[in-house]
Amino acid sequence: MNIVDLITKKRNGNVLTEEEIRHLVMGYTEGDIPDYQMSSFLMAVYFNGMDKEETVALTKIMRDSGDVIDLSGIEGIKVDKHSTGGVGDKTTLIVGPVAAACGVPIAKMSGRGLGFTGGTIDKLEAIPGYKTSLTREEFMNQVNDKGIAVIGQTGRIAPADKKIYALRDVTATVENLSLITSSIMSKKLAAGSDAILLDVKCGSGAFMKTQEDAEELAQLMVEIGKSDGKDTMAVVTDMEQPLGCAIGNTLEVEEAIDVLKNKGPEDITELSVTLAGIMIYMGNKAESVEEGMQKARTALEDGSALSSFRDMVSGQGGDPAIIEDHTLMPQSEFCIELTAWENGYIAALDAMKFGLASQHTGAGRERKEDDIDLSAGILLLKKRGDAVAEGEVICKLYGNNEEKLKKALEEIRIAIIISSEKPENTKLIKKIIK
Ligand code: URA
Repeated sequence: MNIVDLITKKRNGNVLTEEEIRHLVMGYTEGDIPDYQMSSFLMAVYFNGMDKEETVALTKIMRDSGDVIDLSGIEGIKVDKHSTGGVGDKTTLIVGPVAAACGVPIAKMSGRGLGFTGGTIDKLEAIPGYKTSLTREEFMNQVNDKGIAVIGQTGRIAPADKKIYALRDVTATVENLSLITSSIMSKKLAAGSDAILLDVKCGSGAFMKTQEDAEELAQLMVEIGKSDGKDTMAVVTDMEQPLGCAIGNTLEVEEAIDVLKNKGPEDITELSVTLAGIMIYMGNKAESVEEGMQKARTALEDGSALSSFRDMVSGQGGDPAIIEDHTLMPQSEFCIELTAWENGYIAALDAMKFGLASQHTGAGRERKEDDIDLSAGILLLKKRGDAVAEGEVICKLYGNNEEKLKKALEEIRIAIIISSEKPENTKLIKKIIK
């Protein structure tokens, strides 16, 4: 097959066969096709899209480019959860233990943060001793013994996606429905679970800025999951403002523990109960989503979810004493506050701007190889709709570099709108797609 002919075919808006897509994807992954030709092909896809059959083919080719994990050694229905990424999203640290406490085995591989979004593995590394890398045997034993293990992704999961995603990132070809769907789903399908729950974010801090686009992405991902024989559901949720009050690694682990103690912020508790409820239902431990949610609430109230978190941490070598003493996690040297400049109501807390400011405190990385400051981040004392009086603290910034904190504070100032009118309530959970 001639590569230029394949690029031309897509550039002219035609449909590629599975064999043609395989030739391009595997040729690029194996180093036979150069970056400039793959970039050109990706831009043709960006403008002309792919139909459902092409998207299914691309997903499966990328899934099969590396290891497809076999979790059959773990009893029960393994349910995975994936979030399309957001600011302050620490739900994996909560819903994993909640679902595990309700009998759903959680064998999860998570990623690191990049840009303005955080990643579960960075957050877990704030726990002293926690091993984010286990051998296959240790991973399986941990799930069979403790009901839950959360580790980092192995390098051999969907290597084709890894290489193509890195190229998309620097060629302005990330935001395409088929490319995002196949990228996320190739990794999820390779991770070996029986069922997949997708949390598709929409709003300023998400890839998908509108609810309509997020629903379209969610629908397509659900169809692709089902076409591979996996029970797949999606929830479309709000990412206009940060989720919960904490952004940054140590701060987010602290907040996740608060939720597990049933004294966390309302929004993240509500989302966690919904996601865990669906996972409990998908894992066949409840007859309906509502019953699953009731079980999730009970697990938060009776301490069983917290105890499952403790088992996960200690089983993976972490110090469970952090549950009672947060100061055992990395602590920052400096803390500065942003106070309200007038009386009124918080009308907006722009999630993306908060994510970027948090990254600039040291909590996030610009490039994959950057080090991060686990103690850095932002703690919100006010959320959208709250009343504020002039001089009252809206948020606190933490970190070990005071100059960086001062700059981040200026960025946050323009991420906040104070209005004399109380804003209308927005729905956190916008839609559940089966
Ligand atoms: N996350 C991914 O893994 N891939 C995308 O294309 C977008 C978000």
